[in-house]
Amino acid sequence: MHPIQALRDEHQLIEQVLSAVEARLEELDGVPFPRVFFDRALAFLDTFADGSHRYREERALFPLMEARGIARRGGPVGTSEGDHDYGRVFLAGVRENLDAAESGSPGAVAAVRDYGALYVRLLRHHIGREETVLFPLAETALTTSDLARLERQFALAPPPASCRTFAAEVGGNPCDGRAGGGPTRAVTLRS
Ligand SMILES: [Fe+2]
Repeated sequence: MHPIQALRDEHQLIEQVLSAVEARLEELDGVPFPRVFFDRALAFLDTFADGSHRYREERALFPLMEARGIARRGGPVGTSEGDHDYGRVFLAGVRENLDAAESGSPGAVAAVRDYGALYVRLLRHHIGREETVLFPLAETALTTSDLARLERQFALAPPPASCRTFAAEVGGNPCDGRAGGGPTRAVTLRS
């Protein structure tokens, strides 16, 4: 698969999980805290969005773009890296409040909702910018040889298989190109 298309497909996967997280955040009041769901969502986001996907961009794609004259700082590449860092902070905010939220602390539940909402909003903007600015820039700047090299690097480090499992549960599995569902199906997942 074309490596930039592979990254676009990964965004689709992440967006489906974001929709599932958003649906859970919106119904936190008045229901038992869905700890299992948040543990699994965080595992997905840690290992995939902030793991293999981020690695593919920061360690493989961005250096090649820089080698083709696209500055790493002060442009779309630097913006993406900054988003990745903020995303990690927001995920940590969710994670550190899970125990208290599960124990019924209203403040912790509110913190999970606030940090989670910040993360969802950030990632959606981030993905939108990459899809409309950064990836088209890469497609213009990278050579055929660069793309072949990226494809080889990606093949050496495929996304964790668990991403398929979790994404399938929340509404389809973009990993295999058969995405479906979305928020409507996402809310049917129960911890
Ligand atoms: Fe990305």
